[in-house]
Amino acid sequence: MFFWPPQQAVPLPTAYSAAYNTMRVDSIFSKTMKGQGKDMSSRTKISVIGAGFVGSTLAQRLVERDYADIVMFDIIPNMPQGKALDMLEAGPILGYDSQIIGTNDYADTANSSIVVITSGFPRKPGMSRDDLVKKNQEVITQVTEQVVRYSPDSIIIMVTNPLDAMAQLAYKISGFPRNRVVGMAGVLDTARFRTFIARELNVSVRDVQAYVLGGHGDTMVPLARMSTVAGVPLAQLLPPERIEQIVQRTRDGGAEIVKLLGTGSAYFAPSASILQMVESIMLDKKMIMPCAVYLEGEYGINGLFVGVPVKLGAGGVEQIIQIDLDENEQAQLQRSADAVQELIKVMGI
Ligand code: APR
Repeated sequence: MFFWPPQQAVPLPTAYSAAYNTMRVDSIFSKTMKGQGKDMSSRTKISVIGAGFVGSTLAQRLVERDYADIVMFDIIPNMPQGKALDMLEAGPILGYDSQIIGTNDYADTANSSIVVITSGFPRKPGMSRDDLVKKNQEVITQVTEQVVRYSPDSIIIMVTNPLDAMAQLAYKISGFPRNRVVGMAGVLDTARFRTFIARELNVSVRDVQAYVLGGHGDTMVPLARMSTVAGVPLAQLLPPERIEQIVQRTRDGGAEIVKLLGTGSAYFAPSASILQMVESIMLDKKMIMPCAVYLEGEYGINGLFVGVPVKLGAGGVEQIIQIDLDENEQAQLQRSADAVQELIKVMGI
């Protein structure tokens, strides 16, 4: 007969029961890696700087993947701790064991493999683009110094806007090699482009392949010529004027969301885009996706962060993929680069 709970505890052999119990508790249940503290396990550590909309949504997506421990940093006291605890408490329901902590102390981010930077100010009414650059320049300078101090071997994924300029700033300040500083923009812009194409043709988003290069914003370069649906070129499926409308909607994709939300900017698709980049690095997937990287002559551009297709793997940016652009596309990419250059000038770096 099977009884639950057991009617009678099965006694352990008395000679080693105490030692056995102690060993179990020490070695199985409360073991932590040296220097990681009681809140962290021996999993890979990913830090997210800025626990606002993008940062906290990303942290949630990451912790649910269950392959890394997450540290969420913000300057606002208690806020990242509260959000992290809330996410931790969802673990038993969703079935993840990854640890997540919130903090106001950079020491907790120590030895992160990947640091995602989302901290900064949004553009407020009446604020010029140059004012925003200068305000976020202060934030990113401060943050990057702490990232270098505590996680000198990390890969930095920049998310704060204006994206390309902030990535360039972090690259300069960190002194990291260019494979370890990468900006998120192209994945998001491409996702928007793919969404609109899929909705237009009423097909699965999985069947739509597309690329958006260049800067994040008005100067982005959606490569309609290289977009396909199940391998069929887009130009065979839609008239040029409809493609142009979709391209324009993609360019205005960020602004469209800002207008609808009324306060703040997009965060669901941005956090999903960052997740894809993190995953390609963490799991060494070597996926090819458009990201902002420091170009040294590729695409005829030298010494600037611009969005181009790259291979992301365990080494960060493992390869810059050169695709042949036509004259018009190359000119648009150059315009993007010029816009980044202007912001670099404003920052004086
Ligand atoms: N150090 C750390 N965190 C900071 C600092 C700083 N010096 N300054 C501000 N922050 C934090 C804020 O306290 C806030 O919690 O950055 C967070 C930013 O969050 P939100 O204002 O919610 O902005 P969010 O929508 O998350 O966007 C973040 O990503 O997509 C881009 O354009 C967007 O640049 C913006 C960034």
